[in-house]
Amino acid sequence: MEKSLFFLLAVSFASVTMAQEMKIDSSKYQRMVTFTAEQDHKNMMQQLGIKALRPGPSGNESDANHANYDESLANPCPQLPEILTTKNGRKVTSADAWWKQRRPEIVEDLEREVYGRLPQNIPSVKWTVKVTDQEYVGFTPVVAKQLIGHVDNSSYPLINVDIKMMLVVPKNVKGPVPVLMMFGWPAFPSPAQPSPDDMEKLNEAFKQMMIKNDPNMKAIFDRYPAYMPITRLAGPNFFAPKPESEFSPTEQLLAAGWGYATIDPGSIQADNGAGITRGIIGLVNKGQPRKPDDWGALRAWAWGAARGLDYLETDSLVDAKKVGIEGVSRYGKAALVTLAFEPRFAVGLIGSSGKGGATLHRRVFGEAVESLTGGEYYWMAGNYMKYGASEASFGSKTGCDLPVDSHELIALCAPRFTFISYGIPEKGDAKWLDQQGSYMATVAAGSVFKLLGKKDLGVSNDYQTEKMPPVNTGLLDGELAWRQHDGGHTDAPNFKYFIPWASKLLKYEKTPVKR
Ligand code: GCU
Repeated sequence: MEKSLFFLLAVSFASVTMAQEMKIDSSKYQRMVTFTAEQDHKNMMQQLGIKALRPGPSGNESDANHANYDESLANPCPQLPEILTTKNGRKVTSADAWWKQRRPEIVEDLEREVYGRLPQNIPSVKWTVKVTDQEYVGFTPVVAKQLIGHVDNSSYPLINVDIKMMLVVPKNVKGPVPVLMMFGWPAFPSPAQPSPDDMEKLNEAFKQMMIKNDPNMKAIFDRYPAYMPITRLAGPNFFAPKPESEFSPTEQLLAAGWGYATIDPGSIQADNGAGITRGIIGLVNKGQPRKPDDWGALRAWAWGAARGLDYLETDSLVDAKKVGIEGVSRYGKAALVTLAFEPRFAVGLIGSSGKGGATLHRRVFGEAVESLTGGEYYWMAGNYMKYGASEASFGSKTGCDLPVDSHELIALCAPRFTFISYGIPEKGDAKWLDQQGSYMATVAAGSVFKLLGKKDLGVSNDYQTEKMPPVNTGLLDGELAWRQHDGGHTDAPNFKYFIPWASKLLKYEKTPVKR
């Protein structure tokens, strides 16, 4: 029964899509290139004159070609690019020189060589609220808004990009509230369900529909007259609230009077190489492959987050000056890229971001430059591939040839509030991520926070000698913060520290409202 209903729905969806597609005369547009990831990778190698790339190391320590985990071999070029010296060798000693000279130099290098540039002609995004739901998350009444950001694709209708986002705001505090935007799946936290009376009507109508579809169903319903095919989901438990220590990150945010938004990276840009002629990157390129300094998926996700923030700026429930960005792993990289390049984000929680995120590119420990020039190349600009080349028209290059590094990416976030988070390898936040290299980059980035009149980690900026603090010892006194928790590949255990840290810096105190 359910199957036939599902089938009916599936058929009607399919015909809607077909009708939409039929309206587009695809012969009017440049043909979309369909590459496998391998073909796209190869195409970029050819554009760059690369004949061979060094293979990336294996993440499996028992493999012969496993990644390096020997600290004494991890720093082939221990001197990082000078963060506070301009290209022409002048020391940067004022905030003005940082903003006007040095920062733009770093942005240029990071865009051209590492993450790619935003195209000039990115079409606009129109946001609509698809569903507004009044819900309860535990004891907290919330408004949940399901949002769709449609990208204007009139210039190339063969590609459709609809950014998916969910905004959840507590109703028991005085707004507008700060919001943490998180890369993840935008689901309703706890969809409101029909009352028992409404449920009865729904069941009645549903039974009629099924009998109409297949008269044999009537005998079944008659055999079980009290059976209700549509049942309520288990609701929130109001009688035995769970202890605060068991609150999820989003529950902790709501309890602290914050809202949150989840934004779906895959609805902006696919997380694979074959998708690079689709999604927002493909739409702007009219279905053609990238050029070497075009944006990669990380920059595209970051762009999408900034469009999400455009929506939040229009929503009176949100204090758009107090919006943060969060992500873990590849989305930790995306969160750091977002914070670095979009100054309207006030704060970031950067979870286990590793190579391409907080970790130094030129470190050789765990995940390598060669990993990001191999299977994960599409996260980055095509140009980044040069640093994994063993044979090319320009010879060969390694991470040591990069004109920039991740300490400078972190520095682009200054003076905004930047929390770098990791877990421990014993619990699954693998050594692959190079916690030590991320700490070094964070230490080095501190000098820019200080130049801008803010506090950094509270240690020196000598990245070669500073020691990582013990696990569970946060350095949380400044606008730049670090904490390695004792959990796995997640930032959830650090929310307890992130939320009060961010609230204090944002000068936010929740004001309960009487209801
Ligand atoms: C792989 C990848 C990492 C990434 C991680 C993830 O391990 O090498 O760079 O952070 O996947 O996103 O889960």
